[in-house]
Amino acid sequence: MTEIRFENRVAIVTGAGHGLGRSHAMALAARGAKVVVNDLGGSVDGTGSGSAAEDVVAEIVAAGGEAMAHRANVTSESDVADMVDQAKSKWGRIDILVNNAGILRDKSFAKMSIEDFRAVVDVHLMGSAICTKAVWETMREAQFGRIVMTSSSSGIYGNFGQANYGAAKMGVAGFMNVLHLEGAKYGIKVNALAPVAATRMTEDLMPPAALEMLTPESVTAGLVYLVSDDAPSRTILCAGAGGYAATKVYETEGIYLPPEEQTPEHVAANFAAITATDGQKEFQQGGEQGIKFLGKAAAHLGVSLG
Ligand code: NAI
Repeated sequence: MTEIRFENRVAIVTGAGHGLGRSHAMALAARGAKVVVNDLGGSVDGTGSGSAAEDVVAEIVAAGGEAMAHRANVTSESDVADMVDQAKSKWGRIDILVNNAGILRDKSFAKMSIEDFRAVVDVHLMGSAICTKAVWETMREAQFGRIVMTSSSSGIYGNFGQANYGAAKMGVAGFMNVLHLEGAKYGIKVNALAPVAATRMTEDLMPPAALEMLTPESVTAGLVYLVSDDAPSRTILCAGAGGYAATKVYETEGIYLPPEEQTPEHVAANFAAITATDGQKEFQQGGEQGIKFLGKAAAHLGVSLG
């Protein structure tokens, strides 16, 4: 087994002052990367600020690693631009971006204010977009980049009380899908992580025995592979308590209804066949759906698509 190393690689890990981000930053530094530890140092709901980033940098340096702290708020384009400028002037490059910063403002949708919806989408989705935009050109020019979004089972499958968070966490998966396609010819690989770990975000949600197994380090093992030279691309890697899996999106083969049957009643009458999973496929890009449907229609109508 070849050891995964990051000598000469520069990584930015957002929200690295606590929890998973801290663990990712420490592991990357321990494996030779120069790491920007980003964190505004706030509380779980995103309010306040503090020295969390500097504290993690001190831990990395004490362990013999190289790191710099930056308190950028990932929702601020100017903060993030300053962070990227400082990293580039110190180390000359950016190879890896781990979009990990996150907050929670849980409430049932009936009780959730739009302000709390927007705040959560801003940090997870817009924060990921702002940080990615700030490094994208650098990575394209270098013909190398590794980017990870942090998704969540809450977005992929849903979780009561997390409408804002779920929307943002599925949003970053869609963002990954497109960046995977646009980055491929520039050597940029884009993946997502769907973690479960004991952090301050989850410490009140699970019993102590579960929290003990849910180490951030077990999740970080997956993250480190996703940003390595031999990383896959467009994978949603799920990780927790030493379990590793991948989430995939499939589309059923579906059916074709001729023009006179393209009615809601025929859709209802055929719903079992429409949703039957035999022959389902994982598409590589959105256009494949249209090609499938047009193929069925053209075959039925005897039309040549050229
Ligand atoms: P955490 O609260 O320990 O760490 C999140 C960090 O992000 C904090 O240090 C916080 O200060 C920082 N942060 C928040 N807003 C920021 C902003 N605007 N700019 C810069 N930094 C900011 O939480 P945890 O659990 O380590 O979460 C890390 C990521 O993993 C988050 O995206 C979270 O949604 C995701 N996640 C965690 C799960 C878990 O089981 N812990 C489950 C699924 C997803």
